[in-house]
Formats: sequence, structure tokens, C-alpha cells
Amino acid sequence: MDFQKAAEQFVELMKEQAARCERMKAQKDFVDYKSKDKIVIGICGGDGIGPFITAEARRVIEVLMKDEIVQGKIELHDIEGLTIENRIAVGKAIPDDVLAELKACDVILKGPTTTPDASAGGVNIESANVAMRRELDLFANMRPVKIPEQGIDWTFFRENTEGGYAIGSKGINFDGFAVDFAVTSDEGTDRIARLGYEFAKNNGKTRVSIVTKANVIKATDGKFLSRAMEIGKEYPGITTDSWYADIMTAKLVDEKRRRDFQVIVLPNLYGDIITDEAAELQGGVGTAGSANIGKRYAMFEAIHGSAPRMVEDGRAQYADPSSIMRAAAMLLRHIGYGERAAKFDEALDICLEEKKYVLTGRSDGATGAQFAEYVIGKLEQLL
Ligand code: IPM
Ligand code: MG
Repeated sequence: MDFQKAAEQFVELMKEQAARCERMKAQKDFVDYKSKDKIVIGICGGDGIGPFITAEARRVIEVLMKDEIVQGKIELHDIEGLTIENRIAVGKAIPDDVLAELKACDVILKGPTTTPDASAGGVNIESANVAMRRELDLFANMRPVKIPEQGIDWTFFRENTEGGYAIGSKGINFDGFAVDFAVTSDEGTDRIARLGYEFAKNNGKTRVSIVTKANVIKATDGKFLSRAMEIGKEYPGITTDSWYADIMTAKLVDEKRRRDFQVIVLPNLYGDIITDEAAELQGGVGTAGSANIGKRYAMFEAIHGSAPRMVEDGRAQYADPSSIMRAAAMLLRHIGYGERAAKFDEALDICLEEKKYVLTGRSDGATGAQFAEYVIGKLEQLL
């Protein structure tokens, strides 16, 4: 066992993290989209069913934002090449040319991307999602879950760049055991907590729940909990409570208690797991959209995967675009078109309720294109 080599690797990782913390502190405030003459929306299909469903969401955006596109206030910029084949070919989570194109946009609509699992095929390429969140510093993963008939209206603020994800691909393998790292920083915690509380304040919410395992994971989760509680003190009208991730997971299926939760702030990994649970309660991960927000960039995506099997079976055209459409509505809201985003959501709600076209993922159901036309038809009645 080479302790010396491991120690050197550790020092490198710590230096990278220290530098990241400095960059976070130096960051300016959130970009103001209103002050921009033009907003560039990157449309990045990803792979698997990604390009299919993303194209359908793009068509709806084109209809909704027709005037702004003609006036040059909004530009849709297609970004290709974020595919598993290209990523394996260059051995990078995001090929350099794709990253440069992403960085030339203001906001991005992203289809799912296949994440290679090193244990399965020997390729240890980082997830494109994780890399994009880090490269564009998209520190907040906002995931709303609503089940109106049950009084459920939750908004999750998942920290999106730290915890087990910060250096998740750089663990150390010894003979007989392996070590991974989790990182929680002051600035990283403060900014996600503040975003959660600001959202609560601006949306009439009265309660923020902080979720950790600070009873066991003492350094990182301990920091997350104590700093988030400190931020909470700046918001006197809002009650803060602390939950451990295990009991929070249970309480979300407790029909007597779950409607009491409003805004939930959590570190990365618990947020990953618990938001899937919450989305499932709403009707499945395919029904939820997800916003990845940073100060300079923001990226919006479906929370489901790339379903490569559907493509292999020749069923990609039957993939359900409703999750990426929700993400597209969130994108429009984020850049200041809240009213049109609401219409988009309303049209989608009507179509999912009315069920004239139902997607089953197979040829006995509608195609994504038929569904998009259905949504566009409804939208035209609402506009
Ligand atoms: C998500 C996904 C990703 C994550 C995967 C694809 C790496 O599950 O966006 O929740 O773990 O964050
Ligand atoms: Mg997930």
C-alpha cells in the first residue's frame, strides 16, 4: 500500500477544493436577464432518447417565444456532440468543444445523458451532468413536486456541486478497501441555504426543513446543518426544522405529516435520492422537471435517464417529452417569462388530464411528436 502516493493525491484534492472555495467567494451576484439585449438558449439533446424528447420541447419553445426569436431577443442554439460515443472517444465527461459552446449560452435545456458505470464496463468517465454542474457552477438543484389533491407543494433545494459529488470520481483505491471523499464548504452551504430561504420568503412559505445525517457524518453534514440554521436566523418569519435523511425519507410517505413540508434544503446525495422519491409520489420521475441554477448560468433538464434500451428497440419516438417540457417551462420562468411559462404548464396539465394522446413508451401509445402537437394546440387556445 502506497501511503505516500495516497497522501500526495489527497493534498492535490484539498488544494483543488481550496481554490474552488476562493472562486466561489469571488463570484458576483446572479445575472440579471432583464439587462440583456439577447438571451441565448442552448438546446443540448444529450444521448439516448434525449435528442428526441428535447426536439419536442424545442418546438413548443419556438411557438411560445416566436416574437422574441424573430426580434432577436432570444436565440435558440443547438448543441450537438454531448453523446456517450463522443465522450468515450475523447475520454472526457464533456468534450472541450461542447463545453465551449455551452459556455457561450446563457441558459441551457439539456436532454438526459448516459452515465457510464465504471463497475459495468471499465470506462470511468464522469457523469456529464455532474461535470456540467461543476463546470458551470450550477450550485442549486431546484426540484418542485406538487400533488394538489393531497395538499402537497414541496420545493427541494438540493446542493448540486459538493458533498459526495465534488470529487466523486477521484476516490482512492487501496488493496482491500477504497476511500471516497465528501466536501462541504461554508460558502457552498450558505449560498444554497440562502436561495432556499429567499424562495420561501418570496413565495409565502413559512417553513424550511434542513435534511442531513449530521448525527453520523459529523464534519460535512454537521457543517451543512449548523450553517444552514444560521442562515435561517436571518429570516424571522420562517420556521426552520432539522431532519435526518432517513426519517425524512419515511415522513414523505406519511400521509398525515407530509403535506406540512414546504421548502426542503439538502446536501447533494440526500437531495438526489429524496427528490426521486418525491417525484415518484407525484407520478414518476418522468413527470418532474429540474432546474440547475448558478449565478452566471442555469441548466434545465428532465430528471429521468437516457433510456438507451428504448433507442435500441427502435422506440425512441415514443419517449415521453413531458418532463423535459416541464424543464423548458422552468427555463422560461427563470429568464423572466413567467406568464408564458405558466401557460406552458397549464397546457401540459390539460393534456395530461384530458389524455387525448397518451404515451406508453411503445407503439400502442402516441409519439412524442403527436404529444408536442397536442400541447401546442392547447397552448394556441390559451395564448
Ligand atoms: C440526477 C441524476 C444524476 C445525479 C446522475 C445522472 C449522475 O440522478 O440529476 O438526479 O446523481 O445527480
Ligand atoms: Mg437523481
